[in-house]
Amino acid sequence: MGKIEQRWRRGMSRRRALCGLASFMAASPLLHAQRDPWPLGPHRRFLGFDEMRDVFDFEPIFRANVPLSVYDYTAHGTESEFTLYRNRDAFDWVELIGRGGVDAASVDTSTELFGHAMPSPVMLAPTARQRDLHPDGELGMHRAATATGTTMIVSNVSSFPFPRIARDAEGPLWFQRYASRGMESNREALGTAQEVGAQTIVVTIDQQASYYERDLHVRHLGGAPRRVTRRERPNPPNPYRVGAGRLWYEWTLFDELRPMCDVPMLAKGILTGEGAKKCLEHGVDGIIVSNHGGRALDYGPSSLEVLEEVVEAVGGRVPVLIDSGFRRGGDVLKALALGADAVCLGRASRWGLGAFGEQGAQKVLEIVNAELKQAMAFAGAASLAEIDRSIVKTNFP
Ligand code: FNR
Ligand code: LAC
Repeated sequence: MGKIEQRWRRGMSRRRALCGLASFMAASPLLHAQRDPWPLGPHRRFLGFDEMRDVFDFEPIFRANVPLSVYDYTAHGTESEFTLYRNRDAFDWVELIGRGGVDAASVDTSTELFGHAMPSPVMLAPTARQRDLHPDGELGMHRAATATGTTMIVSNVSSFPFPRIARDAEGPLWFQRYASRGMESNREALGTAQEVGAQTIVVTIDQQASYYERDLHVRHLGGAPRRVTRRERPNPPNPYRVGAGRLWYEWTLFDELRPMCDVPMLAKGILTGEGAKKCLEHGVDGIIVSNHGGRALDYGPSSLEVLEEVVEAVGGRVPVLIDSGFRRGGDVLKALALGADAVCLGRASRWGLGAFGEQGAQKVLEIVNAELKQAMAFAGAASLAEIDRSIVKTNFP
């Protein structure tokens, strides 16, 4: 071998340099928004609708369909995103005991909440601005919910006004409220929501909205810094957007809102037994254990870890719902075994709507419900009444 050839063999070729860079980028945490195995990793193309197998399959399609800022808004958690990741880690700390002996086809997931029959304990969490995900927005999401008998909680910050959503709504409809300081505007909003058919009112008390760090720091390669519009400048007054209009709540808020509700009123964002007891003292009819999908207090626990504490404090007096991190039917089963009455999906439903519109959201719900039946069959539970603490073993740190 001549000298020139030897040098060429030892040296870095353009192809090897590019391969090295590609592997470095593929392994970089910068490209992983959620910590679960990078979906569709082994595939070289995006999968089609009929190829969707689990909820994670929808995320890259959604990501490809929307501007980066819309993707980031859905994906991000607060600050270091510790709680965002912990929400998923928590499911690894709960083992399911496979007792078997039940045919999945015969599993019955039906239940009842506040006197309304539901074919499944899986519900849709309130999430904002769904028209950013698909032109049909909440109208499409609600049709998907109706097609699967799912109860949808409509966000206070929906793209379509609540009365517009209610006008078309054929299935169950709940309304979520971020209370404002002016009680008259709460009265008006809650009054309108109930007039047009809200079956319950969900009052969210945990949000701080400091989540634009992803945008501010432009963590994604090629992303452009988010422009702060003129309208946004005055409020909140700092670059981290800690919402001046949120987190002013005290427990007495529920005393003020309760008389405005002729329907059940739930508190969303509860993470301690003590908090749950306070809610009950102040007239709340249902609890949603939630850390807002890792978008409220960072370095707080996952909602799954604290579920039992809340369930114990509530002692069966009101229903306990949960959200934050749920992606699979098996996740849902774990929460039911730890005492939840229902489980709400946030990002999972947004991935579905953003990937394939109404059909995508419907498919997400169908997949999770089918997985739940499968998991219940493995665990030997033919109905929700047969799910109890004995089908899980917890190893929380
Ligand atoms: C939310 N969430 C939320 N909650 C609420 O009460 N009102 C709202 O308007 C919104 N908006 C919203 C937007 C987006 C993009 C996300 C991801 C979440 C919180 C939501 O109801 C729920 O608590 C979490 O989404 C649950 O976590 P997962 O399922 O997304 O992991
Ligand atoms: C959010 C608010 C709207 O999490 O709740 O983005």
